[in-house]
Amino acid sequence: MWDEIWINVNLATMVPGGERYGAIKDGAIAVEHGDIAWVGTAAELPGEPGKLAWSVADGDGRWVTPGLVDCHTHIVHGGSRGAEFELRLEGASYEEIARAGGGILSTVKATRAATEQELFDTAKQRVRRLLAEGVTVMEVKSGYGLDLDTEVKMLRVARRLALELPVTVRTTFLGAHALPPEYTDRADDYIDLVCGEVLPAVAEEGLADAVDAFCEGIGFTPEQTARVFETARGLGLPVKLHADQLSDLDGAALAASFDALSADHLEYTSDAGIAAMASAGTVAVLLPGAFYFLREKTLPPVDGFRRHGVPIALATDNNPGSSPAVSLLLMLNMACTLFRMTPEEALAGITRNGAAALGLSKKYGTLEVGKTGDFVFWDVESPADLSYRIGDNPCKEVVRHGKTVWS
Ligand code: NIG
Ligand code: FE
Repeated sequence: MWDEIWINVNLATMVPGGERYGAIKDGAIAVEHGDIAWVGTAAELPGEPGKLAWSVADGDGRWVTPGLVDCHTHIVHGGSRGAEFELRLEGASYEEIARAGGGILSTVKATRAATEQELFDTAKQRVRRLLAEGVTVMEVKSGYGLDLDTEVKMLRVARRLALELPVTVRTTFLGAHALPPEYTDRADDYIDLVCGEVLPAVAEEGLADAVDAFCEGIGFTPEQTARVFETARGLGLPVKLHADQLSDLDGAALAASFDALSADHLEYTSDAGIAAMASAGTVAVLLPGAFYFLREKTLPPVDGFRRHGVPIALATDNNPGSSPAVSLLLMLNMACTLFRMTPEEALAGITRNGAAALGLSKKYGTLEVGKTGDFVFWDVESPADLSYRIGDNPCKEVVRHGKTVWS
């Protein structure tokens, strides 16, 4: 006997290769021990639902998708950057503000000053907004500490979010996000600290599931990034990269050369970078919120990713400087309108490909037998409505590990 079965549902399984959205109309889905035990059409059910499962629920003909995955966030942070937003609107660029010691460093100041409890409380409010839209898996980065104590503080908060809220969290160490003020003009010394002390300590405490860096003119050079990645490799941790966001430093190819799970942003990625990602199986994580909020003009090469078969994921990039977004559904709409992605590609970006960007494809991202029983019931006419509507939240119920956690 299965634990529970939902009948009278339309399933957007997001399994590729067949119908759009991997759709199964007039379907049913069953869970056992928290995992998906059966998926198919009602007609294929091997018997009466009431005889197959302890509990039978009627889905009222709703569409069901996999639990959503937000695979790139900086959701744990102190302070706000509203004043910087105003400066940018008066003409200052994101890079100018960063070079003048504002930008990421102003959030570093606020994050260092915040207590662990304060960071937890503010992050929790933002995470709740994501969960109300069907997110069941998310990534959380450090990178606003830039010293051992604060990086550890941020990652502990990230772990605690998963303990106190119904969400699976993957943590990413982003020590090489910006140069802290105490290391001005000594970037290589700071990378020594990251590689020699901070990252090994974070790994030792089991606080990081992956390692990221910001490879950019206002971040770190490809050589410095490579040193961080070598250290990660030595510790057995997979890598990801903030790559080619504001200029082409061949970040995508660098990430691919370390078999990165993902390369993220990618507005300036070249064809060679795309090809390298394709051979390494590196996922392209596009961040339409940051593109929009920084009023970027150079579009990420979506067509190139399509041609080379590079999976495209989407995420909020929730952070106070370049994407203060708490809606993953809004990112679907932005990806379609700004990047010309199809609603099906966009939805794959926050399910199947989002899971791949976190190395979680075996258990998350599609509705298939054996995967975790995470799924969302939507009050929509078709899955395209999730991308089409702006500022609407048609989420009716969220099931996580086979149990309703939100309705
Ligand atoms: O993903 N690009 C670097 N990191 C963040 C922004 C961080 C910030 O401005 O606070 C990003 O856009
Ligand atoms: Fe980011």
